[in-house]
Amino acid sequence: GLKIAVIGGGSSYTPELIDGLIKGQHELPVNEVWLVDVEEGKEKLTIIGRLAQRMVSKAGAPITIHWTLDRQAALKEAAFVITQFRVGGLAARIKDETIPLKYDVIGQETNGPGGLFKALRTIPVILDICEEMEELCPEAWLINFTNPAGIVTEAVLRHSRINKVIGLCNGPISISRGIAAALNVEPARVRIDFAGLNHMSYGLKTALDGEDISSRVIAMLAGRGEDGQMIRQLTGVEWVPEFVEALGVIPCGYHRYYYQPRTMLAAMKREAAQTGTRAEVVKRLEDELFALYQDPNLNVKPKQLEGRGGAYYSEAAVQLMRSIYTDKRDIQVVNTRNQGAIAGIPDESAVEVSCVITREGPRPLVMGELPVAVRGLVQQIKSFERVTVDAAVSGDYRTALLAMVINPLVPSDAVAKQILDELLEAHRAYLPRF
Ligand code: NAD
Ligand code: G6P
Ligand code: MN
Repeated sequence: GLKIAVIGGGSSYTPELIDGLIKGQHELPVNEVWLVDVEEGKEKLTIIGRLAQRMVSKAGAPITIHWTLDRQAALKEAAFVITQFRVGGLAARIKDETIPLKYDVIGQETNGPGGLFKALRTIPVILDICEEMEELCPEAWLINFTNPAGIVTEAVLRHSRINKVIGLCNGPISISRGIAAALNVEPARVRIDFAGLNHMSYGLKTALDGEDISSRVIAMLAGRGEDGQMIRQLTGVEWVPEFVEALGVIPCGYHRYYYQPRTMLAAMKREAAQTGTRAEVVKRLEDELFALYQDPNLNVKPKQLEGRGGAYYSEAAVQLMRSIYTDKRDIQVVNTRNQGAIAGIPDESAVEVSCVITREGPRPLVMGELPVAVRGLVQQIKSFERVTVDAAVSGDYRTALLAMVINPLVPSDAVAKQILDELLEAHRAYLPRF
């Protein structure tokens, strides 16, 4: 059987992963799951460990659950290492989301200044994990969920000796499932070719049973199809119909920060005043979840977990591990080395793209040139991602400032510097290189 290490095991998402592993047992024979966390997360880890144990025993699954603060014990001889940790916890996310707002800038934990700082906190930790993996499980696949997942994957590709790394997001699966539901067909019949970067990828082409239905899907996205209303909500965004029709490809939910920045800024300020930022909402949901998780009679994942954004994340993880393990050669959307798949992006950079999943890992489908209207934005974000990685690795102030300034959500060098200085101060404890 296989051993899986989950770093950030105390996450409230973990029961979903355990549920996925239980359901996927027939194709992915996992017999050990090691949940790892840090001292700060010890209490959460224990609650999750006990719940996971109740879940496998209720399901009669032959999986042993371990929980520990000893990362090396967890990594030793693992076949897959799943990373889903949050350095500094939700308290750090609250700062990422609230400090930029004071300057009328969207914080956002993946795309904006918040994403820059989440990367600065995360990259040194992931590179340490990679060094330990070289020693303790050199054959393992690293499957990273920790956001910003594309930037973290870029850092591993450029700054570690771990080649077997894949960054994963639940976004593309959610879009495919939403379209399948709107078309009223089984998800397996729908294939969308995705290309771009994490939280910046586009559905270039949609096929139903192999037949190209892209223009029908675009019409539905623009609210012009029979089920228009439903599909318009798909990315959680109301797009101007003529814009989506002109774009001609499916945007993802995170594109709203680039195509609707004023609306989003206003919405986030309103939210911050009324309910608190998303991080604060998540904090309350997390408290509610952990109260449920402690109930000794609970032995399945609770419905309330669906209130988190990561729906289908375990499905993404389990189907990916399964296809590597069985050399299934099906198509999945992952973050991997570009290798020429998308023109104009460096070969060694991480991209989010549809791939054939083999025993040797993902093999990206050749996508060629992106449509001219989106090409520039994708390249700009890739530049932001690369400069961010350089800043995280070097601990260099000027490089971090440069990353902040070239982020399209930041309006000027002077504002960038103010936000940078305040976030550096707020996160000092988690930024040892600065
Ligand atoms: P969380 O705040 O619950 O953090 C998860 C755990 O990580 C916590 O128990 C915390 O103690 C632990 N942790 C912190 N530093 C650690 C370290 N150095 N080593 C090991 N563990 C450490 O976070 P969450 O909201 O459950 O999300 C977990 C992570 O998964 C986040 O980074 C989030 O961005 C990411 N995520 C990604 C996707 C995706 O689409 N890629 C989807 C969902 C969540
Ligand atoms: C989506 C994204 C994830 C992100 C999550 C946030 O699922 O794909 O990358 O972490 O939303 O959800 P949350 O519940 O933490 O706001
Ligand atoms: Mn994501």
